[in-house]
Amino acid sequence: GDPGLVDRFGRYAVDLRVSLTERCNLRCTYCMPAEGLPFAPDAALMSADEIARLVGLGAEQLGIRKVRFTGGEPLLRKDLVDVIARSAASHPDLELSLTTNAIGLAGRAAALRAAGLHRLNVSLDTVDPDVFAEVTRRPFLDRVLEGIAAAADAGLGVKVNAVLMRGVNDHLASELLAWCLERGHELRFIEQMPLDPGHAWDASTMITAVQIREILSVDHELTPDEAPRNGAPAERYRVRSRATGQDLGTVGIIASITESFCADCTRTRLTADGHVRSCLFSDDEVDLLGPLRAGADDGVVLDRWRRAMWAKPRDHGDDSDGFVHPTRGMSAIGG
Ligand code: GTP
Ligand code: 5AD
Ligand code: SF4
Repeated sequence: GDPGLVDRFGRYAVDLRVSLTERCNLRCTYCMPAEGLPFAPDAALMSADEIARLVGLGAEQLGIRKVRFTGGEPLLRKDLVDVIARSAASHPDLELSLTTNAIGLAGRAAALRAAGLHRLNVSLDTVDPDVFAEVTRRPFLDRVLEGIAAAADAGLGVKVNAVLMRGVNDHLASELLAWCLERGHELRFIEQMPLDPGHAWDASTMITAVQIREILSVDHELTPDEAPRNGAPAERYRVRSRATGQDLGTVGIIASITESFCADCTRTRLTADGHVRSCLFSDDEVDLLGPLRAGADDGVVLDRWRRAMWAKPRDHGDDSDGFVHPTRGMSAIGG
Protein backbone atom coordinates (compact mmCIF):
# COMPACT_ATOMS: atom_id res chain seq x y z
CA GLY A 1 0.00 0.00 0.00
CA ASP A 2 0.79 3.68 0.03
CA PRO A 3 2.38 4.79 3.30
CA GLY A 4 1.97 8.52 2.54
CA LEU A 5 4.21 11.11 4.11
CA VAL A 6 4.24 9.95 7.70
CA ASP A 7 6.78 11.07 10.28
CA ARG A 8 8.19 9.47 13.46
CA PHE A 9 5.45 11.09 15.54
CA GLY A 10 2.60 9.67 13.45
CA ARG A 11 1.71 12.87 11.63
CA TYR A 12 0.69 12.65 7.98
CA ALA A 13 1.55 15.53 5.65
CA VAL A 14 -1.37 16.13 3.29
CA ASP A 15 -0.75 19.86 2.71
CA LEU A 16 2.07 20.78 0.38
CA ARG A 17 3.48 24.32 0.34
CA VAL A 18 5.55 25.12 -2.74
CA SER A 19 7.75 28.22 -2.86
CA LEU A 20 7.99 29.57 -6.41
CA THR A 21 10.65 32.23 -5.91
CA GLU A 22 12.78 33.72 -3.13
CA ARG A 23 12.41 37.23 -4.54
CA CYS A 24 9.96 39.83 -3.38
CA ASN A 25 8.99 43.38 -4.35
CA LEU A 26 8.43 44.33 -0.69
CA ARG A 27 10.91 44.31 2.19
CA CYS A 28 8.75 43.60 5.24
CA THR A 29 10.95 44.26 8.25
CA TYR A 30 10.09 40.90 9.90
CA CYS A 31 11.06 39.01 6.77
CA MET A 32 13.81 40.61 4.72
CA PRO A 33 16.58 43.18 5.16
CA ALA A 34 16.27 46.47 3.22
CA GLU A 35 18.98 45.42 0.78
CA GLY A 36 17.31 42.08 0.02
CA LEU A 37 19.06 38.72 0.27
CA PRO A 38 21.43 36.68 -1.90
CA PHE A 39 18.61 35.17 -3.96
CA ALA A 40 19.10 31.82 -5.67
CA PRO A 41 19.80 32.27 -9.41
CA ASP A 42 16.83 31.59 -11.68
CA ALA A 43 18.45 28.44 -13.08
CA ALA A 44 18.39 26.94 -9.58
CA LEU A 45 14.62 27.37 -9.28
CA MET A 46 12.15 24.64 -10.15
CA SER A 47 10.71 25.13 -13.63
CA ALA A 48 6.99 24.79 -14.36
CA ASP A 49 7.69 21.26 -15.67
CA GLU A 50 9.58 20.27 -12.54
CA ILE A 51 6.87 21.69 -10.29
CA ALA A 52 4.22 19.78 -12.24
CA ARG A 53 6.17 16.54 -11.83
CA LEU A 54 6.68 16.97 -8.07
CA VAL A 55 3.10 18.10 -7.41
CA GLY A 56 1.91 15.12 -9.45
CA LEU A 57 4.04 12.69 -7.44
CA GLY A 58 2.78 14.23 -4.22
CA ALA A 59 -0.85 13.97 -5.26
CA GLU A 60 -0.68 10.51 -6.85
CA GLN A 61 1.79 8.71 -4.62
CA LEU A 62 2.01 10.52 -1.30
CA GLY A 63 -1.52 11.50 -0.36
CA ILE A 64 -1.18 15.27 -0.88
CA ARG A 65 -4.63 16.87 -1.01
CA LYS A 66 -3.91 20.62 -0.93
CA VAL A 67 -1.20 22.67 -2.57
CA ARG A 68 -0.39 26.23 -1.56
CA PHE A 69 1.98 28.23 -3.75
CA THR A 70 4.09 30.76 -1.86
CA GLY A 71 7.36 32.67 -2.17
CA GLY A 72 8.96 35.19 -1.75
CA GLU A 73 6.29 36.72 -3.93
CA PRO A 74 4.77 34.12 -6.28
CA LEU A 75 3.28 36.77 -8.58
CA LEU A 76 6.85 37.60 -9.61
CA ARG A 77 6.88 34.28 -11.53
CA LYS A 78 5.92 35.05 -15.12
CA ASP A 79 4.64 31.48 -15.49
CA LEU A 80 2.45 31.51 -12.34
CA VAL A 81 -0.83 31.09 -14.26
CA ASP A 82 0.69 28.17 -16.17
CA VAL A 83 2.02 26.54 -12.98
CA ILE A 84 -1.46 26.65 -11.46
CA ALA A 85 -3.25 25.61 -14.64
CA ARG A 86 -1.10 22.50 -14.93
CA SER A 87 -1.66 21.37 -11.35
CA ALA A 88 -5.40 21.99 -11.69
CA ALA A 89 -5.72 20.24 -15.03
CA SER A 90 -3.82 17.10 -14.06
CA HIS A 91 -5.19 16.88 -10.50
CA PRO A 92 -8.67 18.43 -10.35
CA ASP A 93 -9.22 17.18 -6.78
CA LEU A 94 -6.35 19.20 -5.33
CA GLU A 95 -7.33 22.34 -3.44
CA LEU A 96 -5.07 25.07 -4.86
CA SER A 97 -4.27 28.27 -3.02
CA LEU A 98 -1.76 31.10 -3.11
CA THR A 99 -0.06 33.21 -0.43
CA THR A 100 0.83 36.59 -1.92
CA ASN A 101 1.29 40.30 -1.20
CA ALA A 102 -1.24 41.00 -4.01
CA ILE A 103 0.99 43.44 -5.92
CA GLY A 104 0.26 42.80 -9.59
CA LEU A 105 -2.73 40.66 -8.76
CA ALA A 106 -5.18 43.12 -10.32
CA GLY A 107 -4.04 42.17 -13.82
CA ARG A 108 -3.99 38.42 -13.20
CA ALA A 109 -6.76 37.58 -10.75
CA ALA A 110 -9.25 36.52 -13.42
CA ALA A 111 -6.65 34.39 -15.24
CA LEU A 112 -5.63 32.71 -11.98
CA ARG A 113 -9.24 31.91 -11.20
CA ALA A 114 -9.79 30.55 -14.70
CA ALA A 115 -6.62 28.46 -14.35
CA GLY A 116 -8.15 26.70 -11.33
CA LEU A 117 -6.93 28.64 -8.30
CA HIS A 118 -9.48 28.35 -5.49
CA ARG A 119 -8.50 30.98 -2.95
CA LEU A 120 -5.67 33.15 -1.73
CA ASN A 121 -4.15 34.62 1.42
CA VAL A 122 -2.83 38.16 1.22
CA SER A 123 -0.21 39.56 3.59
CA LEU A 124 -1.44 42.96 4.72
CA ASP A 125 -0.36 44.35 8.09
CA THR A 126 -2.23 47.66 7.96
CA VAL A 127 -4.47 49.74 5.69
CA ASP A 128 -2.73 52.97 6.76
CA PRO A 129 -0.50 54.08 3.85
CA ASP A 130 2.28 55.52 6.01
CA VAL A 131 2.42 52.53 8.34
CA PHE A 132 2.31 50.19 5.34
CA ALA A 133 5.35 51.98 3.88
CA GLU A 134 7.14 51.69 7.23
CA VAL A 135 6.47 47.95 7.56
CA THR A 136 7.17 46.97 3.95
CA ARG A 137 9.69 49.73 3.12
CA ARG A 138 7.72 50.36 -0.08
CA PRO A 139 4.84 52.81 -0.76
CA PHE A 140 2.64 50.28 -2.57
CA LEU A 141 -0.50 50.07 -0.43
CA ASP A 142 -2.75 51.21 -3.32
CA ARG A 143 -1.55 48.37 -5.54
CA VAL A 144 -2.19 45.83 -2.79
CA LEU A 145 -5.73 47.08 -2.18
CA GLU A 146 -6.39 47.08 -5.93
CA GLY A 147 -5.15 43.48 -6.11
CA ILE A 148 -7.38 42.34 -3.24
CA ALA A 149 -10.43 43.99 -4.80
CA ALA A 150 -9.70 42.33 -8.15
CA ALA A 151 -9.32 38.92 -6.52
CA ALA A 152 -12.66 39.24 -4.75
CA ASP A 153 -14.31 40.41 -7.99
CA ALA A 154 -12.86 37.37 -9.76
CA GLY A 155 -14.59 35.10 -7.23
CA LEU A 156 -11.45 34.08 -5.35
CA GLY A 157 -11.85 33.67 -1.58
CA VAL A 158 -9.50 36.08 0.20
CA LYS A 159 -7.97 35.73 3.66
CA VAL A 160 -5.69 38.41 5.08
CA ASN A 161 -2.56 37.73 7.17
CA ALA A 162 -1.27 40.41 9.53
CA VAL A 163 1.77 40.42 11.79
CA LEU A 164 1.38 42.86 14.70
CA MET A 165 4.41 44.75 15.94
CA ARG A 166 4.44 46.86 19.09
CA GLY A 167 4.49 50.59 18.45
CA VAL A 168 4.28 50.02 14.69
CA ASN A 169 0.82 48.73 13.77
CA ASP A 170 -0.64 47.25 16.97
CA HIS A 171 -2.75 50.37 17.59
CA LEU A 172 -4.37 49.81 14.18
CA ALA A 173 -5.45 46.20 14.74
CA SER A 174 -9.13 47.03 15.23
CA GLU A 175 -9.14 49.30 12.18
CA LEU A 176 -7.70 46.48 10.04
CA LEU A 177 -10.24 44.03 11.46
CA ALA A 178 -13.12 46.38 10.61
CA TRP A 179 -11.76 46.85 7.08
CA CYS A 180 -11.62 43.07 6.52
CA LEU A 181 -14.99 42.30 8.12
CA GLU A 182 -16.72 44.94 5.95
CA ARG A 183 -15.39 43.22 2.85
CA GLY A 184 -15.90 39.64 4.00
CA HIS A 185 -12.18 38.75 4.07
CA GLU A 186 -11.16 36.55 6.99
CA LEU A 187 -8.36 38.28 8.89
CA ARG A 188 -5.76 36.29 10.83
CA PHE A 189 -3.28 37.90 13.19
CA ILE A 190 0.05 36.05 13.30
CA GLU A 191 2.58 36.01 16.12
CA GLN A 192 5.89 37.17 14.75
CA MET A 193 8.31 34.25 14.36
CA PRO A 194 12.13 34.23 14.46
CA LEU A 195 12.36 33.77 10.71
CA ASP A 196 14.01 37.04 9.78
CA PRO A 197 17.53 36.50 8.45
CA GLY A 198 18.69 39.56 10.44
CA HIS A 199 17.73 37.73 13.67
CA ALA A 200 16.11 40.84 15.10
CA TRP A 201 13.23 38.79 16.53
CA ASP A 202 12.93 38.92 20.29
CA ALA A 203 10.48 36.93 22.41
CA SER A 204 10.07 39.85 24.80
CA THR A 205 8.86 42.27 22.13
CA MET A 206 6.66 39.82 20.20
CA ILE A 207 2.93 40.51 20.49
CA THR A 208 1.46 37.26 21.79
CA ALA A 209 -1.88 35.64 21.07
CA VAL A 210 -3.03 36.59 24.58
CA GLN A 211 -2.18 40.22 23.86
CA ILE A 212 -3.86 40.09 20.44
CA ARG A 213 -7.05 38.87 22.11
CA GLU A 214 -6.76 41.71 24.67
CA ILE A 215 -6.29 44.32 21.96
CA LEU A 216 -9.30 43.06 19.97
CA SER A 217 -11.46 42.67 23.07
CA VAL A 218 -11.58 46.42 23.64
CA ASP A 219 -14.09 46.80 20.81
CA HIS A 220 -15.19 43.21 20.23
CA GLU A 221 -16.41 40.17 22.09
CA LEU A 222 -14.55 37.05 20.85
CA THR A 223 -16.05 33.56 21.11
CA PRO A 224 -13.85 30.56 20.15
CA ASP A 225 -15.14 28.66 17.12
CA GLU A 226 -16.12 25.09 17.99
CA ALA A 227 -15.24 23.61 14.60
CA PRO A 228 -12.19 21.28 14.69
CA ARG A 229 -8.95 22.86 13.41
CA ASN A 230 -7.46 19.76 11.78
CA GLY A 231 -3.92 21.08 11.99
CA ALA A 232 -4.80 24.53 10.58
CA PRO A 233 -2.55 27.24 12.03
CA ALA A 234 -5.41 29.61 12.83
CA GLU A 235 -7.61 29.41 15.92
CA ARG A 236 -10.87 31.02 14.83
CA TYR A 237 -13.19 33.28 16.83
CA ARG A 238 -16.66 34.72 16.20
CA VAL A 239 -16.55 38.49 16.48
CA ARG A 240 -19.38 40.49 18.05
CA SER A 241 -19.40 44.28 18.28
CA ARG A 242 -19.52 45.52 21.88
CA ALA A 243 -21.16 48.75 20.70
CA THR A 244 -24.07 47.23 18.75
CA GLY A 245 -24.09 43.56 19.78
CA GLN A 246 -24.01 42.68 16.09
CA ASP A 247 -22.26 39.48 14.85
CA LEU A 248 -19.59 40.76 12.47
CA GLY A 249 -17.94 37.54 11.23
CA THR A 250 -14.79 35.67 12.24
CA VAL A 251 -11.16 36.44 13.02
CA GLY A 252 -8.23 34.05 13.31
CA ILE A 253 -5.18 34.10 15.56
CA ILE A 254 -2.09 32.16 14.52
CA ALA A 255 -0.16 31.57 17.74
CA SER A 256 2.86 29.90 16.15
CA ILE A 257 5.05 30.53 19.18
CA THR A 258 2.97 30.62 22.37
CA GLU A 259 0.28 28.04 21.47
CA SER A 260 2.16 26.01 18.90
CA PHE A 261 0.22 23.67 16.65
CA CYS A 262 3.17 21.42 15.77
CA ALA A 263 1.54 18.32 17.27
CA ASP A 264 -1.15 18.35 14.54
CA CYS A 265 1.05 19.62 11.70
CA THR A 266 -0.06 18.32 8.29
CA ARG A 267 2.50 20.26 6.21
CA THR A 268 5.39 19.41 3.91
CA ARG A 269 7.27 22.11 2.01
CA LEU A 270 9.26 22.49 -1.18
CA THR A 271 11.70 25.39 -1.30
CA ALA A 272 11.98 27.33 -4.55
CA ASP A 273 15.17 25.42 -5.36
CA GLY A 274 13.39 22.11 -4.94
CA HIS A 275 14.39 20.93 -1.46
CA VAL A 276 11.95 19.21 0.86
CA ARG A 277 11.73 21.12 4.08
CA SER A 278 9.96 19.08 6.74
CA CYS A 279 9.44 22.07 9.05
CA LEU A 280 9.76 25.86 8.92
CA PHE A 281 12.24 25.59 11.78
CA SER A 282 14.41 22.73 10.57
CA ASP A 283 17.43 23.38 8.37
CA ASP A 284 17.58 19.67 7.69
CA GLU A 285 16.54 19.74 3.99
CA VAL A 286 16.57 17.04 1.32
CA ASP A 287 17.26 17.98 -2.30
CA LEU A 288 14.75 16.59 -4.81
CA LEU A 289 15.55 18.84 -7.74
CA GLY A 290 19.18 17.73 -8.05
CA PRO A 291 18.32 14.03 -8.40
CA LEU A 292 15.35 14.88 -10.62
CA ARG A 293 17.63 16.83 -13.00
CA ALA A 294 20.14 13.99 -12.92
CA GLY A 295 17.43 11.67 -14.28
CA ALA A 296 16.26 9.96 -11.09
CA ASP A 297 13.12 7.86 -11.53
CA ASP A 298 9.96 8.42 -9.48
CA GLY A 299 10.88 5.80 -6.89
CA VAL A 300 14.10 7.58 -5.96
CA VAL A 301 12.39 10.96 -5.64
CA LEU A 302 9.53 9.51 -3.56
CA ASP A 303 11.95 7.71 -1.29
CA ARG A 304 13.92 10.90 -0.65
CA TRP A 305 10.72 12.83 0.10
CA ARG A 306 9.54 10.17 2.56
CA ARG A 307 12.92 10.09 4.27
CA ALA A 308 12.89 13.89 4.62
CA MET A 309 9.55 13.70 6.42
CA TRP A 310 10.75 10.90 8.69
CA ALA A 311 13.32 13.41 9.98
CA LYS A 312 10.66 16.05 10.76
CA PRO A 313 11.22 17.36 14.29
CA ARG A 314 8.51 17.03 16.93
CA ASP A 315 8.25 20.83 17.31
CA HIS A 316 10.23 24.03 17.06
CA GLY A 317 11.43 24.22 20.68
CA ASP A 318 11.08 27.44 22.62
CA ASP A 319 13.02 30.44 23.79
CA SER A 320 14.16 28.88 27.07
CA ASP A 321 17.13 27.20 25.43
CA GLY A 322 17.52 29.82 22.71
CA PHE A 323 15.02 29.56 19.88
CA VAL A 324 16.19 27.76 16.77
CA HIS A 325 16.74 30.56 14.26
CA PRO A 326 16.76 28.73 10.94
CA THR A 327 19.46 29.70 8.46
CA ARG A 328 16.97 30.31 5.67
CA GLY A 329 14.50 33.13 6.23
CA MET A 330 10.77 33.07 5.54
CA SER A 331 11.12 34.36 1.98
CA ALA A 332 13.35 31.43 1.04
CA ILE A 333 11.33 28.76 2.85
CA GLY A 334 7.95 29.93 1.63
CA GLY A 335 6.05 30.80 4.79
P1 GTP B 1 -5.17 28.38 5.27
O1 GTP B 1 -5.54 28.48 6.71
O2 GTP B 1 -5.45 27.05 4.66
O3 GTP B 1 -5.75 29.49 4.45
O4 GTP B 1 -3.59 28.55 5.11
P2 GTP B 1 -2.41 28.89 6.09
O5 GTP B 1 -2.89 29.77 7.19
O6 GTP B 1 -1.70 27.65 6.46
O7 GTP B 1 -1.43 29.66 5.12
P3 GTP B 1 -0.69 31.04 5.12
O8 GTP B 1 0.31 30.95 4.04
O9 GTP B 1 -1.67 32.16 5.05
O10 GTP B 1 0.07 31.11 6.49
C1 GTP B 1 -0.37 31.86 7.58
C2 GTP B 1 0.68 31.87 8.66
O11 GTP B 1 0.77 30.60 9.25
C3 GTP B 1 2.07 32.25 8.15
O12 GTP B 1 2.71 33.13 9.02
C4 GTP B 1 2.74 30.93 8.13
O13 GTP B 1 4.11 31.03 8.22
C5 GTP B 1 2.13 30.26 9.34
N1 GTP B 1 2.35 28.84 9.20
C6 GTP B 1 1.93 28.06 8.18
N2 GTP B 1 2.36 26.79 8.35
C7 GTP B 1 3.07 26.79 9.51
C8 GTP B 1 3.81 25.79 10.21
O14 GTP B 1 3.89 24.63 9.78
N3 GTP B 1 4.40 26.15 11.36
C9 GTP B 1 4.33 27.41 11.85
N4 GTP B 1 4.92 27.65 13.00
N5 GTP B 1 3.68 28.39 11.21
C10 GTP B 1 3.07 28.09 10.05
N1 5AD C 1 6.65 35.81 11.50
C1 5AD C 1 5.35 35.57 11.24
N2 5AD C 1 4.80 35.63 10.01
C2 5AD C 1 5.61 35.97 9.01
N3 5AD C 1 5.37 36.10 7.70
C3 5AD C 1 6.53 36.42 7.10
N4 5AD C 1 7.53 36.49 7.98
C4 5AD C 1 6.98 36.22 9.19
C5 5AD C 1 7.50 36.15 10.51
N5 5AD C 1 8.80 36.37 10.79
C6 5AD C 1 4.03 35.93 7.14
C7 5AD C 1 3.73 36.83 5.99
C8 5AD C 1 2.85 35.98 5.11
C9 5AD C 1 2.98 34.57 5.62
C10 5AD C 1 3.32 33.54 4.63
O1 5AD C 1 3.96 34.63 6.61
O2 5AD C 1 3.03 37.96 6.42
O3 5AD C 1 1.51 36.35 5.18
FE1 SF4 D 1 7.71 39.79 0.66
FE2 SF4 D 1 6.08 38.24 2.06
FE3 SF4 D 1 8.53 38.64 2.97
FE4 SF4 D 1 6.78 40.68 2.96
S1 SF4 D 1 6.60 38.75 4.16
S2 SF4 D 1 8.94 40.78 2.26
S3 SF4 D 1 5.57 40.28 1.18
S4 SF4 D 1 8.00 37.56 1.09
